[in-house]
Amino acid sequence: MLILGNWKMNKTIAEAIPFAFELSRIKIPKGTNIGVLPPFLSLSAVAKALEGSEISFGAQNCHHEDSGAYTGEVSAPMLADIGCKWCLAGHSERRQYFGETNETIRQKIVSLLRHSISPVLCIGESLIERNTDRTYAVLSSQISKTISDLDLGHEFVIAYEPIWAIGTGLVPTPKQVSETTEVIKELATKLCPNTNFKVLYGGSVDGANCHELAVDNIDGFLVGSASLSLSKFEAIINNCSNKR
Ligand code: PGA
Repeated sequence: MLILGNWKMNKTIAEAIPFAFELSRIKIPKGTNIGVLPPFLSLSAVAKALEGSEISFGAQNCHHEDSGAYTGEVSAPMLADIGCKWCLAGHSERRQYFGETNETIRQKIVSLLRHSISPVLCIGESLIERNTDRTYAVLSSQISKTISDLDLGHEFVIAYEPIWAIGTGLVPTPKQVSETTEVIKELATKLCPNTNFKVLYGGSVDGANCHELAVDNIDGFLVGSASLSLSKFEAIINNCSNKR
């Protein structure tokens, strides 16, 4: 299982350091990989606090150009420079509030791959789309527009995050997670047959629901609010690790 904690716009450096240090001391079950995705500003401090631990770290976004006149942006080589292993691409909050499109997300993926950072492509449908049977059409378009014809390497991570489940306390049924994951893997494999796709589920994951959400074809979780609390994040790590 791969469990990534997306801190979003939370924690100052002063809050992030002791948190990461405590996290680095928890016992991680065999076969479980943990990563944290702090805001840009605390990435270096978190990297230092995690030194010598098995916990990886990464960013929540990047710009697709390596450098240049892009005020306020951070590029993939800058993230690689401080040792980021992961970077989210196309989180629904970025699509919704910052105008990211499948085309710009694709450019970010290309840049991340060029700098040996593993992109975590985030996809998901809205409630209206699910209720009107458009889920697979939406996911299919998000996947094909972002990865078709790219050389993704031997492994690539997709996070399936239904928009209606993010931060709401609502979660799909385990059957819905399993069926959607199967479709995602099928679609992606058709586009990039040489790549092994890992699918994480994200959206209101907590210590109580993670065990049933860890259906057979799910490879891990992308956790938002529950990753901000050590006890809640640890509960997720412990309660789903025996699944895989
Ligand atoms: P949540 O967020 O766990 O708070 O629902 C998940 C995410 O947005 O990645």
